[in-house]
Amino acid sequence: MGNLIRGNVSRRTLLKTAGGVSALAAFGATPLRYALGAEPLKVGLMLPYSGTYAKLGENITWAVELFVEEKGGMLGGRPIEFIKLDDESDPAKAPENTNRLVSRDEVDVIIGTVHSGVEMGMVKVVKDSGTLLIGPNAGAGAMTGALCAPNIFRTSFSNWQPSYGMGKALADRGIKKVAYITWDYGAGKESMQGFADGLATGGGEIVQALMVPFPETSWQPLLAQIPGLGVEAVGTFFAGGGAIQFVKDYAAAGLRDKFPLYGSGFLTDGVLAAQGDAGEGLETALHYADGLNTPRDNAFREAFQKKAGRDADVYAVQGYDAAQLLAIGLEAVGGDMEKSDAMYAAMGSATIDSPRGAFTLSKAHNPVQDIYLRKAVNGLNMLNGIAVEKLADPATGCSMT
Ligand code: BEZ
Repeated sequence: MGNLIRGNVSRRTLLKTAGGVSALAAFGATPLRYALGAEPLKVGLMLPYSGTYAKLGENITWAVELFVEEKGGMLGGRPIEFIKLDDESDPAKAPENTNRLVSRDEVDVIIGTVHSGVEMGMVKVVKDSGTLLIGPNAGAGAMTGALCAPNIFRTSFSNWQPSYGMGKALADRGIKKVAYITWDYGAGKESMQGFADGLATGGGEIVQALMVPFPETSWQPLLAQIPGLGVEAVGTFFAGGGAIQFVKDYAAAGLRDKFPLYGSGFLTDGVLAAQGDAGEGLETALHYADGLNTPRDNAFREAFQKKAGRDADVYAVQGYDAAQLLAIGLEAVGGDMEKSDAMYAAMGSATIDSPRGAFTLSKAHNPVQDIYLRKAVNGLNMLNGIAVEKLADPATGCSMT
């Protein structure tokens, strides 16, 4: 509704300033607000700018801005205006924060967020309001599963995907018994499920789940249990500041050599330098890696470094691709978001020329993508093979109506 109201106001204003009906006739079928100087498109960036996921939110933001700058500040003929909101990775505040962007700020689209629990709150609001939502990280399965919707897209992953890849790689190596340690929230639990499903392809299993509340780092008592569990390896999901601390604590506890640690690549992506020696040699699986060495990725990494003054990581890639997906939709409708059916059809059938490698979206609007194996070598998450090619999330419960 916000879009319609703004559209009408703009149209009225333009009619007045452009000399009324004669101006309307002169521009024929072209919506006046685009013909006479386009109305800015309001993009809400709802991301964590504080707490353990702050750097993730920052990198997504830099990358979205980078893409828009590369396009001269306009997408689909509309100048882009950003409205940023720190969601603090706090699920309890998610509905109110999303409503603020939708109702008070009247954004046209929201790009967000990082934390799966916050994403769930956002999904519920945009399903009601009809606002376009593009997820640049959070892997909550329901977003492109039971709660999928025509106006909800994701350019990142489902929590299941990279962890399935890691579990399957271990299954291929004959690993049978694993413990899994993670934060006790949606992303941790869904990652553990993906890991278990991957392991199960070779008859392996998770024999013990060890969980700490998000975003706590009080895992020492859990680490102490590992030697007594009779496992060959340990699987994990941690990310951001928590992942830095966890990898250091795991090594300091003397567990690295006895119980090799494997995880979805969030464990080391963007944080490997801060993990220092404790991170070296870690093997992870993710839809991005260092050393892809494609012209597309090299150009992106150079541009991101120039803009942000820091190295690109998976979060930057996902943010860049969120902006690319938005551009594809807007270009298909000449910037007119009232043509949402045509816009979403173009987005849904797009091939996104991502730095990670080109990918398409499933019917549920989640990336179908290669899951790379990586090994941490000299501070880089170096490409070390492909765990699964063109992996789609099962999208359980999605019916796109
Ligand atoms: C999540 O909550 O979905 C998530 C957060 C950080 C990295 C990956 C996933």
